[in-house]
Amino acid sequence: MMKGMLKKLFCLFIVAAIGISIAGCGGGETMKRIEKTGKLVVGTSADYAPYEYHMLVDGKDTIVGIDISIVEEIAKDMGVQLQIVDTDFNGLLSSLNTNKVDIVIAGMNPDEERKKSVDFSKIYYEAKQGVMVRAEDKDKYKTVADLKDKKVGAQLGTTQEKIVKEQIEGVNLVSLGKIPDLVMELKNKKIDALVVEFPVASGYVKNNDDLALTDIPVKDDTGGSAIAVKKGNSNLVEQINKSLDRLMKDGLIDKFVQEANEKNVTTK
Ligand code: ARG
Repeated sequence: MMKGMLKKLFCLFIVAAIGISIAGCGGGETMKRIEKTGKLVVGTSADYAPYEYHMLVDGKDTIVGIDISIVEEIAKDMGVQLQIVDTDFNGLLSSLNTNKVDIVIAGMNPDEERKKSVDFSKIYYEAKQGVMVRAEDKDKYKTVADLKDKKVGAQLGTTQEKIVKEQIEGVNLVSLGKIPDLVMELKNKKIDALVVEFPVASGYVKNNDDLALTDIPVKDDTGGSAIAVKKGNSNLVEQINKSLDRLMKDGLIDKFVQEANEKNVTTK
């Protein structure tokens, strides 16, 4: 009896060990390409301060932000150059799956649906969702129920679209490809509210007197950002997680968040 169990345990151990070693050397195509070209190509949607946004640096249009500082460190750890490709959020995962980019970083939540088509790193930054309205309307919006039957904006292809549809009764969802266009719609009274990550909303409110952040709580069970990688590249995910561990351990992510918030002067 005892012997039988020991045998079983031993077999289980062997199977697990083989499994781990296979996963460990799961040499994906992406890593090979990065090594060959000496370049890490990162897809992002640079309309999302403080995560990623355009800014003039020494008179030159530059993409900066928390996510950019993070991938700079990842490229450094890998000993390769960094190239940023800026597209609409909605097209990012298909760029990844058609090898146009090596990884995607865009304040992206690793939700179950996305996990079916891509793999994710660990979560590197957690944030809640914010509901932004025109400052003059702030007193009208206290609870989710106050948004009933209203026009509420969310970026196309984001988890916020789902939040709006699932949590606000009778809502009229307005989805657009770029955040600045949604902010314009809000300012011009074409929509009544806009759901974006809390740090994004607070940046806009800081820089725009006509906008305000409500205290409306929205539920979000995917709460955090992770880096997306094409499926079958466990070695690259491991490499990324190692860099993220270092950045988190050294408090560098918090520093990047603070820096990006300070520099953020986005008005639209
Ligand atoms: N966190 C949301 C999501 O994963 C929105 C991210 C939008 N990011 C951007 N760079 N515009 O769907």
